[in-house]
This record gives sequence, C-alpha cells and structure tokens, in this order.
Amino acid sequence: MNAPLAPAPQPARIQADLDTLAEFRDPEKPGWTRRAFGEYGVAGRKWIAERMRDAGLDVRTDPAGNIIGTLPGEGPALVTGSHTDTVESGGRFDGIIGVLAGIEVARLFTESGVRPRHEFRVVDFFNEEPNPYGLSCVGSRAIGGVLTPEQLDLTDPDGETLRDGLTRVGADPDGALRCAWSADEVLAYVELHIEQGPLLERHGVPLAVVTAIAGIHRAVITVDGQADHAGTTPMDLRHDALCAAAETVTAIERLAAGGVATVGRIESQPGAANVVPERARLWVEFRGPDAGWLDARHALLESAAAEAARTRGCTVTVEWVSAVAPVPVPDRMQDTIAAAIDRLGHRQERMFSGAGHDAAHIAPLAPMGMIFVPSRDGRSHCPEEFTETGQVATGAHALAQTLLDLDTP
Ligand code: HGY
Ligand code: MN
Ligand code: MN
Repeated sequence: MNAPLAPAPQPARIQADLDTLAEFRDPEKPGWTRRAFGEYGVAGRKWIAERMRDAGLDVRTDPAGNIIGTLPGEGPALVTGSHTDTVESGGRFDGIIGVLAGIEVARLFTESGVRPRHEFRVVDFFNEEPNPYGLSCVGSRAIGGVLTPEQLDLTDPDGETLRDGLTRVGADPDGALRCAWSADEVLAYVELHIEQGPLLERHGVPLAVVTAIAGIHRAVITVDGQADHAGTTPMDLRHDALCAAAETVTAIERLAAGGVATVGRIESQPGAANVVPERARLWVEFRGPDAGWLDARHALLESAAAEAARTRGCTVTVEWVSAVAPVPVPDRMQDTIAAAIDRLGHRQERMFSGAGHDAAHIAPLAPMGMIFVPSRDGRSHCPEEFTETGQVATGAHALAQTLLDLDTP
C-alpha cells in the first residue's frame, strides 16, 4: 500500500459541528427531532450545505433533495456520506457523524494537500429515516436509481403523497426519478456510522468493519371489525379489531425467530374507551441477514393475521410497502477498510449491521463499505444516543485513510 497516511481529524471542529447541528431540533419534544419533511430538517440541511462550502466543497442539491459536496478530481468519484434527519425524539449521532466526518475529511484533504486524485463527494442523503409516507432512504434510493413512481404515490396519515411532500420541501419529485448516478461515475462508497448497538463498547474496540447490512421488509396491517357499545356487547358477540391486532402482534414476536421483528406503531379507531374498536392498524418490520427468511415471513404473517381476524369475525389486509434485500459488503472492500485501520494502529472487529443504511442503496452503483464507531450502552433512536467526539474522530481518520488507500490501490 503506497498511499500516504491520512492527516488526523480535529476533534474540536467535529465537536463544534455536532453541537451546532444539534440545535436544529423541535424544542417541544424530548431528545432530537429533525424530521426530513419538517422545518427543522429543512433548516438543518441548509446549514449542512454552508458547512460543506466552508470546507471547500462545491455544493449542489439534486432533485431528490440530496446535498452533494464535491472536491474536483479525476475519473470516478470516491464517495462518503450519510443522513442528518432523525427519528422522532431520537439522538444526535445517528447518520449525523457520517456527514460531519465527511466534511471534516474534506477539510483535511484541502488543508493538507494529502487528497485523492479521484473526485471526492460528500453526500447528505435526503430522508434516510422511515417517513410518514412509510418509506425510508428516499434520497439514496433516488441516487441508486430504485425510487419508483408508485412510491411517490404513498400517502401520510393526512393523505399527503410523498410526491407532494417532496414538492413542499423544495425537491422535484419527477426529477428525483431521473437523478440516479451511473455506475461508472463512482469508484467506491464508504460510510461512517454509529453502531447503534452494544458490541464495540462491550468488547472495548473502537472500530468495526461492517460485513453486511440487514434486509428490511415492512408492512402495514389493517384489521376491520365492528364498533359496538363497550358495556352492553357480550364478549362472544364482539368483532374487536384491536384484539385481533394484539394477537397478530404476539404472532409477529414469535415469527421473529432467526431475525428481528418490530411493531413500532399501532392505531385504534374510533379510539374511545367505551367503544369496541372497529379498526386497528399496525406498522411492522422484519429484519435479517437472509433473503429467504425475510421472504418466508410474508406468508407466515398473512396466515397469522388472517387467523386472528377470522376467530373474531374481523377482516384483515396486509400491505407490504417496502422490501430491501440484505446487502453484503464485498470482501475486498472489507479488507481495504481493515488494512486502513491497521495502518492507523487501531483494534477492530467485523460486524453485521442490523440497522439499515443509505449505503444499501448505493451498493448497486459501486463497491460499498461501512465503518462503525461505538454507541454508549448500545442505545440509539433515543435521546440517550451518545458517542464520544474522540471516537467519532477515530472513525473519521479510518474513513480518510480508507479513501486514500482506495485512491491508490
Ligand atoms: O432503522 C434503521 O435501521 C436506521 O437507523 N434508519
Ligand atoms: Mn436511524
Ligand atoms: Mn442511520
């Protein structure tokens, strides 16, 4: 390996950016809420574009709302990035450290002159977290060329389509269907992200080389029963949609064996204490490393939901809204990242990612890799999410070294 050693990132600059970006949040909610289609998400991304410019990057926003900073160079680009939107009442590191580390790496490249010959791109992908329309990774799907017109027609609980939501935040939905990158413009993609789990901290290891990203299949289940008086309707004459839904939830818990499954949201109508629920809706996701296991959950879930509904005289529909297959990280990319970490003298381990990432949608374009840094107590998607700035800087250093090593294989 004859690439130069990467200059060391400056933790103080990373800290300052983490602190400033953390101010863009809904003050009415605990933790950090910076939703992609909300005012704080729009404002935070304007600041990200400014920070990219400050770092010497040429900045553009594509029709899908992705903010793309570029350092000019030769041939296909070396790309890094992540997302700066959060879940509701989430944390201030998930996705964020990947974008801020990319900006710090750009500063290092421009200040030191130790930089890739190839073009270098830093991307703040629009809307990685599942949105109210039921879709995640809108920006990276667009760049990867897998955003579909049907997905633009998905609606939020108020009936707004994803298409209208994109227009509302200044994006161009039709353009988003045509802004995919071509495979020959990307040399490789590497993303830095927090682990969002407990293993690195428990093992006392500062960095992980990701081996694969979990597949995620998501569905919306709607159970319809019959509204009745809660006091006068005997139990054996009810068509209680929420009871059918509740039995379906425990069935989903059993179907998780071999992977994981979550019902993170449930709605009951009319939602009155003295009315037997006539409709219940569940939002469910299955995740796992094996595509066959994920595919097999469809029939098993549909059968369990149908049985829970049938025994109560209810009806049920299961709408599968997204299915992202597991994505392996190429061995060569894993080994390149591992060698770069070795050059910097850090301990490391290989790790499967149970979390989904934008990288999964960039993988069809070019060799993709990911680097994890520890999450305190393994917590994420909550206000307790925390990673030390020094750990982020170590991850940024590994990212910079990997990019330089990819530049001169
Ligand atoms: O849900 C996920 O896996 C990611 O953190 N958005
Ligand atoms: Mn997340
Ligand atoms: Mn994330």
